[in-house]
Amino acid sequence: MTSTTKTKNRQFRLKTRPVERVSPDNFDFREEDIPELGGNEVLVRVVYLSLDPTNRIWMSDVDQYMPPVQIGEVMRGLGIGKVEKSNNPNFKEGDYVSGLLGWQDYYHADEAESKSLAKLPNVAGVPLQVFGGAAGMTGLTAYFGLLELGSPKEGETLVVSAAAGAVGSIVGQLGKIHGLRVVGIAGGEEKCNWLTKELGFDAAIDYKNSNWKKQLEAATPNGVDINFENVGGEIMEAVYDRMNLFSRMVLCGLISGYNETDDSKTRLPLAKALMKRIRIQGFIVMDFAEKNVEAITKLAGWIAQGKIKHRETIVDGLENAPTALNKLFDGGNVGKLLIKVSEP
Ligand SMILES: NC(=O)c1ccc[n+]([C@@H]2O[C@H](COP(=O)([O-])OP(=O)(O)OC[C@H]3O[C@@H](n4cnc5c(N)ncnc54)[C@H](OP(=O)(O)O)[C@@H]3O)[C@@H](O)[C@H]2O)c1
Repeated sequence: MTSTTKTKNRQFRLKTRPVERVSPDNFDFREEDIPELGGNEVLVRVVYLSLDPTNRIWMSDVDQYMPPVQIGEVMRGLGIGKVEKSNNPNFKEGDYVSGLLGWQDYYHADEAESKSLAKLPNVAGVPLQVFGGAAGMTGLTAYFGLLELGSPKEGETLVVSAAAGAVGSIVGQLGKIHGLRVVGIAGGEEKCNWLTKELGFDAAIDYKNSNWKKQLEAATPNGVDINFENVGGEIMEAVYDRMNLFSRMVLCGLISGYNETDDSKTRLPLAKALMKRIRIQGFIVMDFAEKNVEAITKLAGWIAQGKIKHRETIVDGLENAPTALNKLFDGGNVGKLLIKVSEP
């Protein structure tokens, strides 16, 4: 253990399940002793915690792609950390790793858990926090969703919702790299300007503007070949209405419904999918895990070359995690939302 390693670990443990928005009252925020390391175990100090819409899903007792976080468990969360101490030959003090480190200061991995930690590469021009976003899980989501499921062909039209967020901002830039016409949908003029003026999107539609559906029509004169769906509800329906024969809907997320108990935000009239032979496919980023290294190498290369721009919204302090999570539902983040838990 380094001389600066603390002996106490602050942790958020799930106390109650949220009904709508997440609140600090849904957690016990408490301190525990950091146990001594056993054989092949690793102690990781959390540096950045990734706040993701899926944190909200994990808190609900609904059918999902992983077991829900149980009451009393440390809140599940992806993070980037630094190895403080290791009894495991695969990790040494000072290594940077990513994994499900949890909403806490320190992650104590036993031998089995340490197998799911991924060592981060050191790539010139790619700062550490980017491995929590554009060169991390959300970048991979954009990459696999668009390239594996979207089947992009040069000259086609791609529409992406939540376009100024972590996944959406990378989807659009990957679309430009692959020769697509890219239209983003986002909340507010500032986000839309960022998409067109800095990220190279061909058009950006502010869905808070009352005539946004007309603008979407004007921005997609040849219809829509790929809908990268992040939001659901009215936005999903408006893009679906413009989808072409043999178009693809990459179903990545339905964030507008995550705080709701009814499922109205996830419904689509399917007759159109039949008549237009639309392929609608849901996916979870880990479906493509065997290609992670190849994809991260490509993403990090584009980022280092400046072909993919990235932005992070970083909130200081582990204690702010529950309130900061709601930024994802209020549109309070641009790019990837992270909590800085400790100094790199
Ligand atoms: N399938 C997978 O493996 C996978 C992996 C990662 C993420 N995802 C999904 O991808 C989507 C984006 O995730 P992210 O991590 O990149 O988050 P994000 O886009 O960085 O943040 C969420 C954004 O969604 C927008 N939003 C929230 N509620 C909305 C609503 N009711 N109507 C319209 N827009 C709304 C907000 O932007 P505005 O200001 O534009 O409203 C907000 O900033 C989510 O649906 C998430 O569940 C899926």
